[in-house]
Amino acid sequence: MAIVERLHSFSPGAGRVAPRATASGSAETITLNGRWRFRLVPTLADVTERFMDPEFDDGAWDSIDVPSAWQMAGLRDEDGRLLERGQARFGTPAYTNVIYPFAIDPPFVPDENPTGEYRLAFDVEPQGGGRWLVRFEGVDSMFTVWLNGVELGWSTGSRLPSEFDASAHLRAGRNVLAVRVHQWSAASYLEDQDMWWISGIFRSVSLVHRPDGGIDDHFVHVAFDHHDRSGTVRVETSAAAVVRIPELGVEAASGEAVRIAGVEPWTAETPRLYRAEITNEAETIQIQIGFRTVTVEDGRLLVNGRPIRLRGVNRHEWHPDTGRTLDIATMRRDIELMKRHNINAVRTSHYPPDTRFLDLCDELGLWVIDECDLETHGFGRVNWKRNPSDDPRWREAFLDRMRRMVERDKNHPSIILWSLGNEAGFGQNLSATAAWAHARDPDRLVHYEGDHNASAVDVHSQMYTSPDELRRYGAGIEDVTTDATHDRHRRKLPLILCEYAHAMGNGPGGLREYEELFDRYPRLAGGFVWEWIDHGIRQLRDTEPHRSTEFFAYGGDFGEQLHDGVFIIDGLVFPDRTPSPGLIEYAAVITPVRVTIGEDGIRVENRHDFIDTAGYTFEWSIEAAGCAVSSGVLDVPPVPARSEADLPLPAEVDGAATPDAWITVRVHTATASPAVPAGHQVGAAQRRLTPAAAPVRATRRPVEQHGTGWRLGSALFDRAGGLRSMGGISARPVEIDLWRAPTDNDLNRARGQASCWREAGFDRLRHRVESVEMLDDELLVTTVTAPAGGDLGFRSRAGWAWSDKGLILDFRAEPFGQFRTALNADAARLARATPSTIPRLGVRLWLDLPSDSEIRWLGLGPGEAYPDTTSGAVHGLHTSRVAAMQTPYVRPQENGRRADVTWIEITDGARALHVQADRPLGATVRPWSAEQLTAATHTPGLLEEGGLWLHLDLGQYGIGSAACGPDAFEPYRLGPRAFDLRLRFRM
Ligand code: GAL
Repeated sequence: MAIVERLHSFSPGAGRVAPRATASGSAETITLNGRWRFRLVPTLADVTERFMDPEFDDGAWDSIDVPSAWQMAGLRDEDGRLLERGQARFGTPAYTNVIYPFAIDPPFVPDENPTGEYRLAFDVEPQGGGRWLVRFEGVDSMFTVWLNGVELGWSTGSRLPSEFDASAHLRAGRNVLAVRVHQWSAASYLEDQDMWWISGIFRSVSLVHRPDGGIDDHFVHVAFDHHDRSGTVRVETSAAAVVRIPELGVEAASGEAVRIAGVEPWTAETPRLYRAEITNEAETIQIQIGFRTVTVEDGRLLVNGRPIRLRGVNRHEWHPDTGRTLDIATMRRDIELMKRHNINAVRTSHYPPDTRFLDLCDELGLWVIDECDLETHGFGRVNWKRNPSDDPRWREAFLDRMRRMVERDKNHPSIILWSLGNEAGFGQNLSATAAWAHARDPDRLVHYEGDHNASAVDVHSQMYTSPDELRRYGAGIEDVTTDATHDRHRRKLPLILCEYAHAMGNGPGGLREYEELFDRYPRLAGGFVWEWIDHGIRQLRDTEPHRSTEFFAYGGDFGEQLHDGVFIIDGLVFPDRTPSPGLIEYAAVITPVRVTIGEDGIRVENRHDFIDTAGYTFEWSIEAAGCAVSSGVLDVPPVPARSEADLPLPAEVDGAATPDAWITVRVHTATASPAVPAGHQVGAAQRRLTPAAAPVRATRRPVEQHGTGWRLGSALFDRAGGLRSMGGISARPVEIDLWRAPTDNDLNRARGQASCWREAGFDRLRHRVESVEMLDDELLVTTVTAPAGGDLGFRSRAGWAWSDKGLILDFRAEPFGQFRTALNADAARLARATPSTIPRLGVRLWLDLPSDSEIRWLGLGPGEAYPDTTSGAVHGLHTSRVAAMQTPYVRPQENGRRADVTWIEITDGARALHVQADRPLGATVRPWSAEQLTAATHTPGLLEEGGLWLHLDLGQYGIGSAACGPDAFEPYRLGPRAFDLRLRFRM
């Protein structure tokens, strides 16, 4: 077949051996990873004619690491140093979400088809007879393989393994493997996942020996009977063999079912694996067996007879330097981070991961939905016309992908559901794939969100469903689907949200609302937050002569003509795997051990599905105004899974008389497990015991004239009543502050509020002092604040006084004008938004304090918190520094707010400013203005301006999930209203 025909073929490949299980054992495996010779050509017309010939001279070629994606490898020089932006060596990554970066003309792809030619010369001494296979774990997207000049075959299915029989052509001594990889092929139509388009041999390559009579394939069928706690195992093998599980004293023939009394089952909470071996004369392979049974009963998802709750994430494989090529340490890190944040499930969106990741899920314990490498979302733009999912010419390609996933991964106890793929519409090929999976592996369930009628699947799955709709599903009163014949079946299935709570930028907000519904309705088996990691690409940008700053690139940063911008940055961890505030929030909401402190007692809810609470400690402490009062350990008898216990409050609670006293209970792991250390906090609960202290009475001092302005104690004001300094710290006048740098959720065109806010002009407020009056002991300044181009706003009255307790500000503000009318000016465009919302309600001021100042505050912390993201923060006395309080969202946006703050102190060592409020406020300290934060597109765009901005708010609009999901829920929306506020400044 000529290259062009092959590229435009519906066939998934040729010359490959049958797919089979991953295995390791006595047969030899030789890695071919390493430095290969490499040449990248831009079009098919440029390919190198005889490059596969063993004697071909590749001396002038580049070299590249295998595995790697050539676009990612090309962002570094030969020695691995990051190049400056725009200096890529082998093409650049390109990002689109749904849209195909080529014309929708299946199965054709453009002639402009970057093609990588790879050559590796290697020496082997093949011994022992049998066959030798060349195995590719993943090549993106289509490739042909030659050994010593002879073609072995070709394959597609980027995130799936391909093996070719090399036996006839492998020689003792020098061999040359040549591989030609095309970025685009007909198969690209099946790989339209929301991610970077990057290409090449991005997973490992090896030479695998298959001895004559060896165990080429094995399928471990397991079950756990929860009635008598026995396990059953039956290992099917491609050649007769003996199965041994030494720990259980099992020795059985392959194919023989053995029932074993008293086994410990595998669950994500108790990832119990039994070492076993499958052996015959030709070879021995080592396996790990986990006993478990997955079923659906009464609309519930059960494992080992018990309902499970999925507290999951969608995980793409990503590393900011190497793209989808991950090392084992990174995979392990992902699972550790997940487990340390109470996550118990992973959907491998949207392709089977590196197989070693699944080994780690077995070992460390995560429920897995293994998803096939399939998405045809771009056809949605043309009304799903010619969608491969319903076109019989693609049938074999669909089946091939599913087979290769299931065959490779079928022995992992962690995998409980097979997913047919993502966003590929629906059609006969998906039905066929589901039927094949059911027949091949009756012991697991089949998932596919796009099967809206649930005609082919075992669980009903949805994405970005609102809580209101989810409640209807929970109660079983949802609407009939378009296909009434399957309605009955669908109503008997559990529902999972395979995606919810879009973690883009600052967020997601509103997680608690979902969790409450999952708690309430047994039919709701949980969900998977979208998504695990920001797919940012590490880049260098020249910020000053001789100084480059690292930052993370997103769509459009490589000059792509078509791209979806920052939509690729929507993870719970930043590209370098630093947990974002969203992950902290999620961990708190999904805590498996929930404590609630009531007036009369403490309730401990064990939300695990299998284990009791014996492995946790419960420490309590009482603090008053942030100072420790007493502490101790609660005596909690082991609470069984899915049940609760009530305990008395510590006796010390009664004695708590000091103002602003709080009791906190913290739950920690008592002992270490492989992924979570001992002493790790899994949850916390708090309750206020006594009210805050009554405000102190202050004795006011007279106002004095000072030059053309005024002096109040150590505070100086200009002639317009504007604050200029306090206690030697220069300042700028206090202003009404209604703006925040829009979050990615705010910016969503359909559901976000930012367009309304901009329309109203909250980003361009102008201030006009109306009057300044000097009373005996107060300087009264009235100001009108309104946006440029608008006639609505706030009229405020600031009363300043000096007292023995410091500088006092009594601030009152009232809105004027028709907020609704003004916002409705362009009614058609803005109709869907709530017109009367505002991003923030508060004040701001600028202070001449250095950017490395230390900050202390009494309130929620240590991390940021917004109205609908407060679960991860606890009340107390917190200390940080300005830099550490800025959350480095890849695209700069509102961040860093600390909630419920009653006082905040900023100090540079020599000077300190203490600001006390008469009620809990949101407090934000920044070394740059909100205007700068709004304008910046990447982190190097944020430059310290000198001085600090202090923002104090009475409220902010909630965070929500509007970037791809619902806006902030009703209680977290903010509208204009009159407010008053008293602040006391001490220097
Ligand atoms: C979903 C899709 C994901 C991702 C997400 C938005 O519809 O399945 O792949 O695109 O939306 O970030």
